[in-house]
Amino acid sequence: MGVERFEVIAPKPEGTIPDEFIRSENEQPGITTVRGKVLEVPTIDFSDPDEQKLIRQIAEASSNWGMYQIVNHDIPSEAIRNLQAVGKEFFELPQKEKEAYAKPLDSDSIEGYGTKLFKEVSEGNVTKKGWVDHMFNKIWPPSVINYQFWPKNPPSYREANEEYAKHMHKVVEKLLRLLSLGLGLQGQELKKASGGDDLIYLLKINYYPPCPRPDLALGVVAHTDMSIVTILVPNDVQGLQACRDGRWYDVKYIPNALVIHIGDQMEIMSNGKYKGVLHRTTVNKDKTRISWPVFLEPPADHVIGPLPQLVNQENPPKYKTKTYGEYVYCRLNKIPQ
Ligand code: SIN
Ligand code: FE2
Repeated sequence: MGVERFEVIAPKPEGTIPDEFIRSENEQPGITTVRGKVLEVPTIDFSDPDEQKLIRQIAEASSNWGMYQIVNHDIPSEAIRNLQAVGKEFFELPQKEKEAYAKPLDSDSIEGYGTKLFKEVSEGNVTKKGWVDHMFNKIWPPSVINYQFWPKNPPSYREANEEYAKHMHKVVEKLLRLLSLGLGLQGQELKKASGGDDLIYLLKINYYPPCPRPDLALGVVAHTDMSIVTILVPNDVQGLQACRDGRWYDVKYIPNALVIHIGDQMEIMSNGKYKGVLHRTTVNKDKTRISWPVFLEPPADHVIGPLPQLVNQENPPKYKTKTYGEYVYCRLNKIPQ
């Protein structure tokens, strides 16, 4: 049995796309996007020497927005450029070469090249698909890296990803510390609860080819991230949307900024003080959009629940405590949590 990829399914007469990519009317971006307004989620200057201010800004954005952008984060723009260049080069390889890194069909892990992640809803006998291919690689800590899933071509793929991971590590340490302090905890407590030094950085590449009907299709459908936190860099093609007050808006693109998403595990640990936001991606008629989210994830057997320090009689736990593996299993199989 073959796995469908874009090279096989994309060529169609101008202006039409296969049914499986046409979203229902309540999802079609052409109908559901608020036009003429770009959502300015908070932009936070990570180099601000006033730490109390930074903690307040991060806590406020994590509580009231669930998505924000960080600038002056110390990841050199060259490291971002290189990460983006090697990822793009990989996706532009002939299909056959990419298939060498395909996620094995019988694999429990998500790592490798692929097309479909969530079991999407079937409407009639058509299973709906997102207009996107993806790649997953664990990039940190070094002990969990499976180099078999890291492309050998382009040859600098490994170096560029290792370099990015090293810089990302510093951002993650600082962000988790600020988030922890913002909850009134000690600086190290959130990281400890997230798996400590076993916290996994899972890099995904979303590759969204041009789409003849961007008004009808979606890249990634509406979701919140399952992670603790997600830290993302897109290329310069507009496509990220967030749901605010029940309506969908384009999110302002800021070159070199890191887009932060509060993930479900952070919402759970903070007992709802920090909240994720529904987001989705649109595709472009002429341009390829690519994004590089890094999901911060606990190991699968790590237990996540509302932090005991944050619950009491007036503020009882709002979420169940379970292993991250269980949480992911339920989400991917649409089992209520
Ligand atoms: C996602 O949230 O899964 C993708 C976000 C993006 O491509 O910007
Ligand atoms: Fe996401």
